[in-house]
Amino acid sequence: MNILGFESSCDETGVAVVAFEGQEAPRLLGQALHSQVQMHEAYGGVVPELASRDHVRRALPLAEAALAEAGLGVHDIDLVAFTRGPGLAGALLVGAGVACGLAAALCRPTLGVHHLEGHLLSPFLSADPPEFPFVALLVSGGHTQLMRVDGVGHYELLGETIDDAAGEAFDKSAKLLGLGYPGGPALARLATQGNGLAFELPRPLLHQPNLDFSFAGLKTAVMTTLNRLGPDVNDAQRADLAASTQAAIVEVLVRKSMRAIRQTGLRRLVVAGGVGANAALRHELGQACTRMGVKVHYPELHLCTDNGAMIAMAAAMRCQAGLAVLSNEHRFGVKPR
Ligand code: KG4
Ligand code: ZN
Repeated sequence: MNILGFESSCDETGVAVVAFEGQEAPRLLGQALHSQVQMHEAYGGVVPELASRDHVRRALPLAEAALAEAGLGVHDIDLVAFTRGPGLAGALLVGAGVACGLAAALCRPTLGVHHLEGHLLSPFLSADPPEFPFVALLVSGGHTQLMRVDGVGHYELLGETIDDAAGEAFDKSAKLLGLGYPGGPALARLATQGNGLAFELPRPLLHQPNLDFSFAGLKTAVMTTLNRLGPDVNDAQRADLAASTQAAIVEVLVRKSMRAIRQTGLRRLVVAGGVGANAALRHELGQACTRMGVKVHYPELHLCTDNGAMIAMAAAMRCQAGLAVLSNEHRFGVKPR
């Protein structure tokens, strides 16, 4: 079975081909990605209307590129998958519209995929995929969740952020520090030159026995610190503040993940979503997991942020689990929230 998957929930257009036979592990045959980062940079964040228009321009050429890499023609595709949500409504509608239009022309079914399920299952595209069950830490620009995952479609939410997501905390703090968009990687880069112990920043909910997160206060603390430092703030202080911000986010993510491991008694941790690309998080989690005898799995670095491969993969795994509700009607409903 050959699946063509489209991702268009935010500012990346991703298309990929994943194939499988029976219950064999699905394989990634081809993929193409276009990031809109440069286009949105001038505005300091994603402009939804521009994002939608760019998805329109990119979707079909990227599909052609992914198919060419896979060595397949469009008629070899058996199922067209697309991101149903959550994400920007207009952006989602472009991916859904293109996927359903293509499927209708080819007389093939479509499958809408939950964006977070795509992230969650993305480590199955790596050379060393996890086994079920595992604890998953999902850390993206819009979500921060801890889940217990017993199999495809068997997800139990253990805890989540009550306000900002971890990626949002990176992005908003980066903006306050005058760094460009997207802020996460920029803040991480500046942090390598600073001291993470230089500023004492809050770690909300760290000592609560639950598995929830709160990051909104961190952004306020970064703002207050910058105001206190005043207009003469120097480069070294900015680097120290970046490092201290990253240290606060990373400590909370690591401690809560380890608490989830203890509470569930599971010995595998999967980290997915854009913030999973953060080197400091990977380092600290690696150490904590080694201490506790836990194996930690990540998607390949280029599959941490949004891409089409994770959507095609989630569709393939849903099909194999007998959980795919395939539609030939091509009513392309999206679920932005
Ligand atoms: O998963 P993703 O591509 O999109 C969403 O579904 O939200 O995640 C994007 C988020 C952004 O907030 C971005 O700043 C953050 O992931 N991010 C990082 C790094 N790379 C991406 N945050 C910290 N360090 C990084 N290296
Ligand atoms: Zn995402």
